[in-house]
Amino acid sequence: LINVALVGYGYWGPNLARNLHELAETHLAVVCDRDASRLGQAHKLYPSARVTTDVAKVWGDAEIEAVVIATPAPTHYELVKAALAAGKHVLVEKPLTLCSREARELADLAQAQDRILMVGHTFEYNPAVLKVKELLDQGQLGDVYYAYSTRVNLGRIQRDLNALWSIAPHDVSILLFLFEQMPIEVSARGASYLNPGVEDVVFIDLLFASGLIAHIHTSWLDPSKVRRMTIVGSQKMIVYDDLESEGKVKIYDKGVLKVGPGRIFGEFQYRLHSGDIAIPRIDMSEPLRNECQHWAACIRDGQRPRTDGANGLAVVRVLEAAQQSLEKRGAPVEIAG
Ligand SMILES: NC(=O)c1ccc[n+]([C@@H]2O[C@H](COP(=O)([O-])OP(=O)(O)OC[C@H]3O[C@@H](n4cnc5c(N)ncnc54)[C@H](O)[C@@H]3O)[C@@H](O)[C@H]2O)c1
Repeated sequence: LINVALVGYGYWGPNLARNLHELAETHLAVVCDRDASRLGQAHKLYPSARVTTDVAKVWGDAEIEAVVIATPAPTHYELVKAALAAGKHVLVEKPLTLCSREARELADLAQAQDRILMVGHTFEYNPAVLKVKELLDQGQLGDVYYAYSTRVNLGRIQRDLNALWSIAPHDVSILLFLFEQMPIEVSARGASYLNPGVEDVVFIDLLFASGLIAHIHTSWLDPSKVRRMTIVGSQKMIVYDDLESEGKVKIYDKGVLKVGPGRIFGEFQYRLHSGDIAIPRIDMSEPLRNECQHWAACIRDGQRPRTDGANGLAVVRVLEAAQQSLEKRGAPVEIAG
């Protein structure tokens, strides 16, 4: 049993607490939040867990082997650094940091300290995303032309972190996971309506060396909740809709075939192909539970997590390039290889 301390019991922390409490591999031993009123709630639900407002107590607690950090992103760098320096394994919520230099430093520190550092890119533990990855790996789509992702809703308005850093880490992590390559160029445009300088809506474009292009639309100022990704290939097309209860992944046997020369020289005739729509069976399980279980297994077996520090860094590099582009009103920003 791994003794775990959870730091940050705000909106998302309770979901982590529940999983850490329920899992056979972990024991929720301490809940820490600097806001004492949050700790009352935690104590009611988990009376066996000790509570504290002082994070230094967590670092100094020899019983605590591992720490989950679910505080706001601007605090991640300092907290992860302190946790690793204190010899704890770490699971930190996304994004790892707000700058790539700091993300790299943390990934290196984890290695130097021989500790497990994992980033909570939850969607990489989502069975529907894993199914999409399986279909891509089987080559079912043929050549992948392009992909786009929409993650919008009305609400969960952030005051100090724009929609790029609060919402897009999910889409970026999914795209990097599915296509196993870094974009070479990023551009982003956004606008702030509610809080000056904090973009409520951001549109991001990614260009990959393979020719693949991807688009991400994030917003907390939208009439309806959408969490949908479309991937268009030469043979088939996929729509992954996370809000569907059944049929989260649909495979469209649709495409366009070039069939011989047209009447005008140099022109081709096309035939549209529109076949069946298939819905693969997916055994759904809670992504966050899978994530926590993977972290515990990595600690136990000394294995590298799938969403390790290097993966966290890759996502931060893309977000950082998008932020630079956002500040230059959409000018493309290159990502060095
Ligand atoms: N994976 C997901 O789907 C998902 C969803 C929501 C949020 N998140 C992530 O979870 C993290 C937290 O987000 P949230 O929405 O819960 O934020 P929140 O503001 O609701 O909660 C953060 C909590 O951390 C506490 N805190 C802040 N600094 C602290 C410190 N130094 N020591 C101890 N406690 C401290 C605050 O008092 C607060 O209770 C963010 O990184 C966010 O990106 C992930």
